[in-house]
Amino acid sequence: MMSAIDVHDLVKVYKGGVRAVDGISFSISEQEIFGFLGPNGAGKSTTIKCVIGLLRPTSGTIKVLGVDIRHDPGVVKRNIGYAAQETAVDDRLTGWENLYLQGRFYHLSRAEVRRRGEEVLKLFGLWERRNDTADTYSGGMLKRLDIACALIHRPKILFLDEPTLGLDVQTRKTIWEYIERLRSEHEMTIFLTTHYMEEADVLSDRVAIIDRGKIMALDRPGALKAGIGGDLITVRFLGDEGRLEPLLSALRALPGVREVRSAADGIHRIVVEKDGDQLIPEIVRLAQESSAGIHSIRLKRPTLDDVYLHYTGREIREAEGSREELIRARVMSRRIRR
Ligand SMILES: Nc1ncnc2c1ncn2[C@@H]1O[C@H](COP(=O)(O)OP(=O)(O)O)[C@@H](O)[C@H]1O
Ligand SMILES: [Mg+2]
Repeated sequence: MMSAIDVHDLVKVYKGGVRAVDGISFSISEQEIFGFLGPNGAGKSTTIKCVIGLLRPTSGTIKVLGVDIRHDPGVVKRNIGYAAQETAVDDRLTGWENLYLQGRFYHLSRAEVRRRGEEVLKLFGLWERRNDTADTYSGGMLKRLDIACALIHRPKILFLDEPTLGLDVQTRKTIWEYIERLRSEHEMTIFLTTHYMEEADVLSDRVAIIDRGKIMALDRPGALKAGIGGDLITVRFLGDEGRLEPLLSALRALPGVREVRSAADGIHRIVVEKDGDQLIPEIVRLAQESSAGIHSIRLKRPTLDDVYLHYTGREIREAEGSREELIRARVMSRRIRR
């Protein structure tokens, strides 16, 4: 399968010397959902703007569908749709009018805009509201209209920069469903950026963790989690702690068990290579054989949070988004006055 996007050794230094993107490389396959996860200022938006030709890279190569964008900038305009971090909807116009303008911008004929406009508005659940001005739309509807506008020229690849920033949890999940459907039903390739851990985890086939302009890790979410350590099983046994030693030795000898740690609180932590769920029956059986019995047992898998912490030494705090979200909320209420 051909790569949709190939980025090689991309560097972007802004005037004034900020090295926003510091030598990153990645490839995105066709029909892949590729997530770029990182805190504010990591270089996510700068990367997108370079790839879609809004910013000139300081160095590096970018190919879209195998074509170097320096040799044929048209390859970007024809094949890429882009919904910026700030919604570009004009709220004095109706949903339909916003879409119509966008279509004309891409030089689609009136007939094409009508046909395609109806398609994307229906796809995003906005058809019934097409003749209402966008200032009557909710935040989620505005974002959906914005994404619909980015799809008017039938791009093969869609770039979504923080598509759910500042939206409430329920609305975010609705947007995820639309994104997932674009891939599964419309065979799109999707590049999305986010600083929401769960979003990257749920949506992306592969995730790149980006921090200070560098890619710290890149893999499927499951592999990233497995890579930093196995599952953790925590057990509380019934009966006398003092007589558990033979049982604990037996547990340590189980294949796949890396370590058994006993804490003063009576909870035993069993670190396993992987597939902790499959070890639980064995642990229960051994406990019963040793007549210890089990009070409680639970399995904890590493989360993408743990992965992020592992690679960056920091947590993405929700607070990091808050300043940006505040600005966004302001932009949302002001929208765009042209
Ligand atoms: N136009 C600009 N001029 C100078 N510095 C910029 C500009 N845009 C962004 N930066 C800086 O580049 C870095 C990366 O920003 P950005 O790509 O917007 O990160 P993200 O989208 O991950 O939050 C930040 O330090 C930011 O302040
Ligand atoms: Mg950004």
